[in-house]
Amino acid sequence: MRKAVCPGSFDPVTLGHLDVFKRAANQFDHVTVAVLLNSTKQSLFSLEQRMDMIRESVKDLPNVTVDTFHGLLVNYCVDNEIGAIVKGLRAVSDFDYELQMAQMNSRLGVDTFFVATNPEFSFLSSSIIKEIAKYGGDVSGLVSPHVNAALVSEFGAGK
Ligand code: PNS
Repeated sequence: MRKAVCPGSFDPVTLGHLDVFKRAANQFDHVTVAVLLNSTKQSLFSLEQRMDMIRESVKDLPNVTVDTFHGLLVNYCVDNEIGAIVKGLRAVSDFDYELQMAQMNSRLGVDTFFVATNPEFSFLSSSIIKEIAKYGGDVSGLVSPHVNAALVSEFGAGK
């Protein structure tokens, strides 16, 4: 079975992430969306909230499951017999850091496969979504309805 992982913080998951999950799911037998548990990084949503939002987003993708990990991603891959990391590349600005991580992860034993982000979502990031939502901007159309509802509930009317 060809297994892949899509790792990240997903605070929160966006339609850009979802597009990458779907495309990975078309290429691999099984895809795990692995949410990083990082106690030093401040997140808007708790780990459980982030995982629940992703579960709801991928509920129609039968070969995609959601998990959490901490420590080195390659260790998670080895423990779960996952042979590939799949990540989206939005723009040249992503490239240097992603290349560095991919090369290090390859050296540690797991290759990374990049998919070019759908241009519709190439400007999207969880950070910019939070920034817009915080001040009451409309992010519907960029995140799933349940994620939009969670943002509205978190920030209220914003402004
Ligand atoms: O959504 P993010 O925060 O950009 O995701 C970054 C992530 C989780 C993919 C990356 O930080 C990671 O893999 N962290 C786990 C620790 C690790 O393996 N570090 C070595 C990378 S070469």
